[in-house]
Amino acid sequence: MTLGSHISPLARSHIEQADVVFAGLSDGIVELWLNKMHTDVRSLQPYYREGKSRMQTYRQMVDAILTEVRAGKRVCGVFYGHPGVFAWAPHKSIEIARSEGYPAHMEPGISAEDCLYADLGIDPGRFGCQHFEASQLLFYQRRIDPTAYLVLWQVGLVGDQSLARFSTGPAYKQVLVDVLARDYPLDHELIIYRSATLPIQQPRIERVRLGDLPQAKVEMADTVVVPPARPLQPDTEIRARLAALDIATAGEAGVA
Ligand SMILES: C[S@@+](CC[C@H](N)C(=O)[O-])C[C@H]1O[C@@H](n2cnc3c(N)ncnc32)[C@H](O)[C@@H]1O
Repeated sequence: MTLGSHISPLARSHIEQADVVFAGLSDGIVELWLNKMHTDVRSLQPYYREGKSRMQTYRQMVDAILTEVRAGKRVCGVFYGHPGVFAWAPHKSIEIARSEGYPAHMEPGISAEDCLYADLGIDPGRFGCQHFEASQLLFYQRRIDPTAYLVLWQVGLVGDQSLARFSTGPAYKQVLVDVLARDYPLDHELIIYRSATLPIQQPRIERVRLGDLPQAKVEMADTVVVPPARPLQPDTEIRARLAALDIATAGEAGVA
């Protein structure tokens, strides 16, 4: 995620030992840095084009990677963050390679998710944490738990059914607000978050009321965090059942 610091020794070694490296990175400067690690780095960035379906782009990326695998090369795909988090092409490449009998492995990376826990001081274990791709939250009937954190990915292009746009406007974000307003008050404070991709940068941490989200600037690389709006509700029935179990198991232990 951040140039220079967020790469494991093992990931670096896979890059250095590959015959061909494909780069699915978010930042041109990070790509320049990768170019210093290997002489044959091929950018996947040119496959993206506004107006072209991202599914077509992803399939072309997988084809490019698999063509080199089938040619007998050692291939390393480098994707920013964690290559398996909200990323279709890395999973698909590995799935196809394995189905054709080639050994394939995914090395985990430091995701935007990991950075947000650190930068925002959030422990997902405290109240629980749901993650949704923002458009999926609109396209399908999902159950939001407002006593947990909610992390929304790809809000910058929320509601894009064409899969071909790089951003959607305030009217689309208003639909997201209307869906969230079923579970949260309009004055509930959300966090627009972007982790640093260069060591000289600071993360973007901007607080905005839910009702003001349509007018807020939310870009491709931003993630929106919705903190819990309600306290956890004790489940008295289940607690009573567990207490009864405690008594029963203590009794069994006493008999034994
Ligand atoms: C296609 S996903 C890729 C995620 C990436 N694989 C990862 O592990 O973070 C793109 C989404 O990731 C999130 N994202 C990407 N870069 C980010 C950054 N620098 N800070 C926060 N979120 C980011 C945004 O929600 C963005 O819309």
